[in-house]
Amino acid sequence: MKTLKKILFWSLLGFALIQFIPTDKVNLPVDHKVNFVDAKNTPEKIRGLIKGACYDCHSNETVYPKYAYIAPISWSVKSHINEGREHLNFSVWGTYNKELKESMLSNSIQTIQNKTMPMPAYIVYHKEANLSEAERVLLTTYFEEMLKSKTY
Ligand code: HEC
Repeated sequence: MKTLKKILFWSLLGFALIQFIPTDKVNLPVDHKVNFVDAKNTPEKIRGLIKGACYDCHSNETVYPKYAYIAPISWSVKSHINEGREHLNFSVWGTYNKELKESMLSNSIQTIQNKTMPMPAYIVYHKEANLSEAERVLLTTYFEEMLKSKTY
């Protein structure tokens, strides 16, 4: 019993202490001239889908959920956001070159179709990102048309 209490005590103390390790949740300012949905003048409906399903990890407009404030979950959330932004950041779309835009559009189409994006674990807590089949078609058609017409 004594050891159990000790383990519990040290675990709780550890949990309490890691709460003091900060994660950076400050969003960089958004330049609307290069921000995807502004620069492309994305129709309202599609804009809502992209912002609701992709922008938390692929833009500088991340809205942090409550659970993102509790370590160690906060570390995992932040690492997904960092990684997501590194791969694709819609907030700086206008600064990408032609090749990068083309590959990001076709990768987006692929990942939306095969349901690897938005990340399945994220969908559980974000109903708006749980895209229906019709919404997936709407979004991929929009990206496909942009690719075809070279209006990226
Ligand atoms: C919860 C965070 C999260 C959300 C939401 C999310 N992504 Fe991602 N995305 C990631 C991470 C992390 C990676 C990099 C690791 C990987 O490929 O799994 C990634 C990778 C990608 C890539 C690959 C980029 C490359 O270099 O080829 C594409 C494309 C992409 N995401 C598109 C999207 C689109 C489109 C949406 C919305 C429909 C979306 N993602 C939503 C986290 C997210």
